[in-house]
Amino acid sequence: MRLSGKPPFCGSEDGRGPDVAPQQSRPVSKPQPTLSSIRRQMASNAQSLSGKLAVVTGAARGLGKAIAKELADRGAHVVVNDLTLGPASSVAEAIREQGGSATPVAFDVADTSQVDESIRTLLLEHDSIQILVNNAGIGDFVTFPEIDSDRWDRMIDIHLKGSFNCCKAVLPTMQRQRYGKIVNVSSVAGKRGDFGGNAHYTAAKAGIIGLTKSLARYAAPFGINVNSVAPGLVETDLTSEMSAEWKETTIARIPAGRLGLPEEIARATAFLVSDDASYIIGETLSVNGGSYMD
Ligand SMILES: NC(=O)c1ccc[n+]([C@@H]2O[C@H](COP(=O)([O-])OP(=O)(O)OC[C@H]3O[C@@H](n4cnc5c(N)ncnc54)[C@H](O)[C@@H]3O)[C@@H](O)[C@H]2O)c1
Repeated sequence: MRLSGKPPFCGSEDGRGPDVAPQQSRPVSKPQPTLSSIRRQMASNAQSLSGKLAVVTGAARGLGKAIAKELADRGAHVVVNDLTLGPASSVAEAIREQGGSATPVAFDVADTSQVDESIRTLLLEHDSIQILVNNAGIGDFVTFPEIDSDRWDRMIDIHLKGSFNCCKAVLPTMQRQRYGKIVNVSSVAGKRGDFGGNAHYTAAKAGIIGLTKSLARYAAPFGINVNSVAPGLVETDLTSEMSAEWKETTIARIPAGRLGLPEEIARATAFLVSDDASYIIGETLSVNGGSYMD
């Protein structure tokens, strides 16, 4: 499927894969978008993601699934990624049944060659990618002494290297089209630390905030917004692994008095990838019921 309606800042698209990007570090020779073109784009595009292709990783369930549905509801064609095709296909099918547009794609975000190959194939099929949401992740609720080297590596590989891999793979096409939106899913734990331990998880999520800020500085001159969302505790399969006692203690610390809904994270993400957020760059948006305030 090819998408119509390229975003206003698009330059010529040659359909080449992510490995053949121009090597320049800053777009010095290209004109910057004018203020009136930005205003026009905001007026015509507010909240609508029609004509955009969005890749959402780890979207077979939980927050990723809610994000994929939300972006599809707003008109994006969503590439539903997960480790295996079966669960990703179910989500894509559910989106299509609701009148949306979606394709399932299986790859492991931690595997650089799988990511590169999948993005290259997607670009051959779709020409360009406008939106990337790095959501794939795992939980591992352990105390510091329980974290060994293997646990550490797995956590960092999936969350931090996985986000890096996907950003790296989509960046060249976003640079060429001079338009892109990337949201990396961090966590309140990355800002505050985790009451229960999980130092490997919090380190990965804090690393994602650093990755977001540095990449945002690099990518902004190309018309690419890189931001992050930091959810508090949300009711998903991942958090169902937590003990009831741990959950209760956590809820007691949340001013809103409840866990978040996946849809609430999805709405915040949809805002960040919309042109309503065109002047938001390198931000990590807390969506946590007030449980942590920067
Ligand atoms: N649920 C929460 O309370 C909460 C809070 C803050 C942040 N987060 C973050 O939000 C994201 C989603 O969390 P969730 O609660 O929906 O988790 P979840 O376990 O319900 O879903 C995660 C999905 O990611 C997929 N996945 C795991 N490793 C992958 C890999 N290597 N490649 C591709 N896909 C992979 C899983 O198969 C699964 O479908 C994670 O990054 C998590 O750390 C969740």
